[in-house]
Amino acid sequence: MKDSFGREIDYLRLSLTERCTLRCAYCRADEGYCPKSQELTAEEFILIAESAVDLGVKRIRLTGGEPLLRKDLLQIVSGIASLPGLSDLSMTTNAQMLAELAADLKAAGLMRLNISMDTLKPDLFNDLTGGSLQKVLDGIQAAIEAGFDPIKINCVLMRGVNDSEIDDFIALTENHKIDVRFIEYMPIGGSNSSDRLRVNNQELVAARSWLVPLAPRLHGQPSSDYTYEGALGRVGFISPISHRFCGDCNRIRVMSDGCLRTCLGRDNEVSLRAALDEGKAALKQAMSEAIVDKPARHCFDQEALAKRNMSRIGG
Ligand code: GTP
Ligand code: 5AD
Ligand code: SF4
Repeated sequence: MKDSFGREIDYLRLSLTERCTLRCAYCRADEGYCPKSQELTAEEFILIAESAVDLGVKRIRLTGGEPLLRKDLLQIVSGIASLPGLSDLSMTTNAQMLAELAADLKAAGLMRLNISMDTLKPDLFNDLTGGSLQKVLDGIQAAIEAGFDPIKINCVLMRGVNDSEIDDFIALTENHKIDVRFIEYMPIGGSNSSDRLRVNNQELVAARSWLVPLAPRLHGQPSSDYTYEGALGRVGFISPISHRFCGDCNRIRVMSDGCLRTCLGRDNEVSLRAALDEGKAALKQAMSEAIVDKPARHCFDQEALAKRNMSRIGG
């Protein structure tokens, strides 16, 4: 369905849990989260997905927190993958537990994987996240072996922390069929370090004249993609601050506590709990009313959004 600005809303992000195995500073700005006991069940997520598909959603991405922490993840994946009318089912993960799960996820119907990895240095990785870089690399290898394609690496560059690694990340796309995307640090969750640490993507592109722009692969994709001579993978730049892409936005989000957000960069949200209890007709009604109210654009530039941090919203 279309929102009041004529944008076709065909992409739903489901944040399956706020729990996470890592502690990235830019994502988890505070510790308050929806306890496991209050998370939507697999059946509730599948009903939301089914209602969204009825309303015209064609692509669904599972996020978190860390979606691999859900014990019923394969049930959620296969329940959503079997919905007629859905053309794409993907997941964003930190990959700490991916090596063991990649093949089962593929078999359950997951089509694409995006993996967060902000540094290629094992010690810095542990400092930034509390986790293991080797586990991410093992997860990527398992995902390749399981047949996921494309695999996208998400890297949030931070000035003076990991920005010296940009060309090492780009080099990954030379010999591997992996896409690497650089994401501008967004001021979400009341974080006040984003302006100080953010690296401007337009400057990164301008300094690399050998990058050749590519046409977008998917409707509404936030990344601007590039290639270069000899590259097997793509280099992408997600620039919500320096280059607004809201005019083409096709997305809504539902979070693990049952709240729906029509914009990542706004604090407005509605709870779907009551509608979920009433059933699919009520759910479709509540979701379409929210879509009509989707704001034209984010307001990151006015204030850090304080209500939820990124680990709750799911990016
Ligand atoms: P695909 O295009 O389906 O591969 O996914 P994606 O790149 O949108 O998903 P991913 O979860 O990998 O997100 C990458 C980055 O883009 C994260 O930092 C997200 O927060 C950001 N992002 C995704 N969608 C939006 C959006 O609608 N608005 C803004 N501002 N950022 C977004
Ligand atoms: N700004 C930009 N990207 C972020 N992510 C998490 N928090 C932020 C932030 N404040 C990224 C993660 C993950 C994706 C879903 O969102 O690195 O890859
Ligand atoms: Fe869409 Fe809001 Fe993201 Fe802009 S900030 S692209 S309107 S979700």
